[in-house]
Order: sequence, then C-alpha cells, then structure tokens
Amino acid sequence: MTIWMPTLSGYGPRYRQLADAIVDATTRGELEPGTKLPPQRRLADALGVTVGTVTRAYALAEQQGAVSARVGSGTYVRDTSVRSSTFDTIFEQPRQPDLIDLSHATPPPSPRRSQNLARALEAIAGQPAALRAGVDYQPETGQTWQVQALAGWLTRLGRPVEAENLLMDQGGMHGIHLALSALLAPGERVAAEQLTYPGLVSALSQLSLKGVAVPFDDHGIDIEALARAFEQQPFRALYVMPDCHNPTTSRLSEARREALVALARERQFWLIEDDIYPDLPGEANTPLYRLAPECTITLFSVSKLLGGGLRVGALHAPEAARPRLTAALRAQCWMPPPLMPMVVAHWIDSGDADALIAWQREELAWRFDRAMARLAAFRPRGQRGGFYLWLPLPPDLRSSHVVEQLQRRRVVVSSAESFCLGSVSAPQAIRLCISAAESREALESALDTLVDTLGDPDPLLWETL
Ligand SMILES: Cc1ncc(COP(=O)(O)O)c(C=O)c1O
Repeated sequence: MTIWMPTLSGYGPRYRQLADAIVDATTRGELEPGTKLPPQRRLADALGVTVGTVTRAYALAEQQGAVSARVGSGTYVRDTSVRSSTFDTIFEQPRQPDLIDLSHATPPPSPRRSQNLARALEAIAGQPAALRAGVDYQPETGQTWQVQALAGWLTRLGRPVEAENLLMDQGGMHGIHLALSALLAPGERVAAEQLTYPGLVSALSQLSLKGVAVPFDDHGIDIEALARAFEQQPFRALYVMPDCHNPTTSRLSEARREALVALARERQFWLIEDDIYPDLPGEANTPLYRLAPECTITLFSVSKLLGGGLRVGALHAPEAARPRLTAALRAQCWMPPPLMPMVVAHWIDSGDADALIAWQREELAWRFDRAMARLAAFRPRGQRGGFYLWLPLPPDLRSSHVVEQLQRRRVVVSSAESFCLGSVSAPQAIRLCISAAESREALESALDTLVDTLGDPDPLLWETL
C-alpha cells in the first residue's frame, strides 16, 4: 500500500520541515479531515529519518491544531470546520475565489507564516517573564534585546546598523508619519519622485505638507531636476526609494546617490530613505544612510519580509534627530506594542525568519521569471526577486481602461494614476504585484488573462469609456 509522502522544504530541522509539510497539506486539502497519518515507523523509513523525528513532527503538528493523536489508534487530520465559538468563526472571511488581486505589494502567501506565528506565541506563552513584558509598558524605542535582534538581522541582510541608531515603530507607514511629523512643520515642502508610494501622498495630506514632484528615469531621481526644483520651491526633505522604486522598480545609481547626498548637504534638506524591500538580489548600491548618516532617516519594516500584519519596523536616524522622533512616537502611541517585536525577535532567533525569506526569495524569483517570459512581448520592467512589475502599455491603450477590463475578467492591478504626486500626468502603464497571487497557478491564470486582454482589447470598452 502506498503511503502519503510529504515534500520537505529543505530548510531548518527535519522534524519541523515535516510538521510544516503536514500543516501545509491539511490547509491545502491534500490531507482531508479524518485521514490517518502514516504509521510513524513507515514514514520514518520512507523519508530516511529516525522515528523520533517523526514523533516530534506529529507532536508539533498536533500543537498547531492540524492533527490529533488517538491513543492506540494513530494520528488523524482534524476537522477544523467544526467550530465552537464566535472567536473560532470570526476568522472565516468570505473569500472571492475567482478574484486574483495583484494590486497590493503583499509577500507571497505561505502557511509558513502562520506556523511561525504559532511557534512564537507558544514560546512566549511558556515564559512568564515574556508574558508580563507583553502587557507592561516598555521604553518608547523598544526593548533593547528586541532592537538588537532586529539590528543583527538587518545587518545580515546587508544593511549594517547599530542598535542604538534604531527606533522601533509599527512599520513603514508609521515610519513615514514619524519622520515627517518630527522633522517638518505644517505647510513645509517635501520632494519626491513624481510617481511615488501612495502612502506618502496620503501622509503629506494628513500632515498638511506640500509635495514637490521631481522627474526620474531608469537610474532613479533626476538630480539636476531636483536641484532646479529646490531653487523654485525649497523643500525641507526628500522622500526617496533608492533600491526598488514603487511603482516602476527603478534603482538609484551609485553616481546619483553621491550627487544626491552632496546636494542634500549643500542645500541642507533631510533624506527620507524608504528601504522596506531590503532583500533584493543583485549588485547592492550603498544605502543613503551609509553615505550621509547625519542627514538621512531610513525606514525599515518587516512587512515585506515576514508579514504585514506584524506591524514592526524601525527608523535608522542620526543622534540629532532621535529625541524629536522619540517625542513624535510618544505623542502618537506612547510606544509600539511589545508583543509583536517579541514575536519578530523569536522568528529571528529561532531561524524561522531566515528560512521563510530563503523560501520567499526562491518563490519570488520563480514568479519573476515566469511573468517576464509570459509578458515578454509587452516589455515589462522589474527586478528579479522584487514584488511587482511595471508594464508600460502599448500605444493606444489607456491604463484606466485596461484596469477596468481586467477587473471585469477578475484580475485586479493598479494603474499609474494611483502613484501620481500632485497634478503630474500619469503615464499609460500598470503595476502588477506578482508577489500577491495566492499561488503559482493563480499567477499563471492572471498572466493568461493579461496577455489576452492586452493582445485583444475589447473595442466596445474603449468606446464606452
Ligand atoms: C515603498 C513602500 N513604503 C512603505 C510601505 C508601507 O510599509 P508597511 O506595511 O510596513 O507600513 C509600503 C507598502 O506597500 C511600500 O511599498
């Protein structure tokens, strides 16, 4: 008789890989409720591991609620559809299975994230001191050991930082608000690329700040245009995404980084460096905070690496700016909630964070290769390992029409208009978050729809809009 054979990821201890594979298979429906898991010795022989490894894996999968052991009978897949309380049922979100939403830059979905969360919460629940810290006030800038864990991890990711320069916050968006509210007064100006992260545009409006739109090209922001803009409308800060511009994926060249830093020093404006995608492969350029630490505030966040729901990030700031940033943080929320940085520190410490991003890197590279090959005729732009592609449209197609037509075909993407700063006119292009597809199959299906739509646009739609 054949037995169920798990596919192990190859990352981390074998018992954990096996437990993850079991939870994955139950989540995907490959192992149905009531199915008996293979006898431990048979599975151990089949996988070439010890029985102890299988026993540990089954116990871990049981702790995570995927299976339950029956004395003398074996281990069975649990029926998680049997719910008992509002708390159990509240998480059953209505899904739209036929809709493929590629409009948000979310990390590729994986059950590994919830498995890591379960492990971290379990470790925290087993430590009275950690539980106490989770409900107590803590220093505004975060617990030292948590900040150190984050600093060490960022350093390993190629962003060398010292813990004392980091101020913990609640992610990239919070970091933008903190930096702008601490360093600028209402009415002052902030320059940015003329297409930019929409979160910046809403933060400027919330804080009554004015945006100055600056042209850019494949090598990043145009420094001469920036200098001219300063002459006409002096600004206090420049917000910039040097490594992977959102939405066009361009990367600021090393030469322009140096020119930018020289200009910032000469004209005395702050650089707000958004570095929330710090894990892009390829040749690394020097982060701005390394070139000009005295005038750069850099935003880090775990959202794109570990998960957006964790709401953990950090600002890297020079000493002179830290008291103002800390005061802004205190005024906004007193301190970041201690529980989530604790979870992140556990992921980092246990190796779960590294294993997850090793998987994510491979997944994103696969998605990139697939999408670039499928869309080759349309010349998409992107960085291998990045979350999104930028697709300038063929002549005669308008991005709002294409977005609408795709939506009718149940694929959601963003048009260039969503990224405009001020009144700049939007190019005819769309952003496609390949990372966000629920699965590789969903991505393939969205790519098919896109190719069909761009290759054969519905003329009626052009006429009616
Ligand atoms: C360039 C950029 N900056 C900041 C953010 C916000 O990050 P967070 O989710 O950590 O608030 C995003 C989110 O998509 C982003 O794309």
